[in-house]
Amino acid sequence: EHIKKLNTFGVDAKAKNFAEIRSIEDLKQAREHLRQQPQDFMVIGGGSNVLFREDYPGFLLRMMIPGFEKIREDDEHYFVRAGAGEVWHSFVRKMLDAGMPGLENLAYIPGTVGAAPIQNIGAYGLEAAEFIDSVECFDMDTGEERTLTNKECDFGYRHSTFKKPENRHLVITAVTFKLPKNWVPNTSYKALAEEIEINSFPELSPQDVYSCVISLRRRKLPSPVKFGNAGSFFKNPVVDRETFTSLLRTNPSLVSYPLAGGRFKLSAAWLIDNAGLRGYRMGDVGVWEKQPLVLVNYGQATGEDIYAMAQDVRLRVKNCFGVKLEPEVAMV
Ligand code: EPU
Repeated sequence: EHIKKLNTFGVDAKAKNFAEIRSIEDLKQAREHLRQQPQDFMVIGGGSNVLFREDYPGFLLRMMIPGFEKIREDDEHYFVRAGAGEVWHSFVRKMLDAGMPGLENLAYIPGTVGAAPIQNIGAYGLEAAEFIDSVECFDMDTGEERTLTNKECDFGYRHSTFKKPENRHLVITAVTFKLPKNWVPNTSYKALAEEIEINSFPELSPQDVYSCVISLRRRKLPSPVKFGNAGSFFKNPVVDRETFTSLLRTNPSLVSYPLAGGRFKLSAAWLIDNAGLRGYRMGDVGVWEKQPLVLVNYGQATGEDIYAMAQDVRLRVKNCFGVKLEPEVAMV
């Protein structure tokens, strides 16, 4: 099966076996297939956070379980359950339309509902984990269905328990979100606050925040339809206070965010930019001009080409600043 259309980098790789998953029943069948023909398996959603370095020699499952339903409410919250295969952005839109705002800072993020908890997607001062109540999974080892509470998901910055290699057998099938009925805009992120300010809305609504997020993203991030990409390729690195102060001494313009516990998150975009790599290009792979944290495929780049560029960026940032960048994108 050719999977060029199933990954937003537009890499022309192949998967040995392939199935579309539209129900738990489909997962049971896939599990049976794996028992008869033991091989590696992996699940993709929108294919917006993977880089296929080569053909995939196993069983590729494309998650397409649908669903969107308000399952209950209490005095303070709505609880909404969505299928893992729902497109994330449409889900955010549906929540707004249904009068259950809160996720608008995460508008326009590529991918699916089921992928959201895996790396705890985040943007503009909000992480999905804040509004996730529980996550339903199908255990490919035991064939059982399980529900993990928010706490059990062990969420962190671009992290959850689902990223751990020992949990690869857990396939997310649905996510339940818990939204406060009393909507409070999250304008903690400077760029978003400025965008809202410029528009001087008479009375700020969830729809206004949603529109501002979309226009910010359109301005900075390449459309995967035009240029293959997977959003941020690297995570923002976290360093200790010592490393931070010594870096700041030599680089007064360094962009960073203080974290709990005396640690600092550095802007990977700043590091890549200041290593002189903004707009850098090798053949069909490039560092996006408007947001250097994004690598793009300008045409016929292979997975190996993109990987080589990523390694080059890492090496140069390491040489300039002594900081190691870790990929945010899953590598196959
Ligand atoms: N900056 C530079 N040079 C640049 C670009 C940015 O110095 O060329 C500095 C600026 O000072 C800017 C700061 O870096 O204010 C941060 O840039 P941005 O607001 O774009 O955020 P980011 O930290 O680079 C993260 C997420 C994005 C998310 C944005 C907005 C990660 C790895 N990335 O990027 O997520 O959209 O914040 O909240 O945490 C994704 O995960 O795929 C993704 C796009």
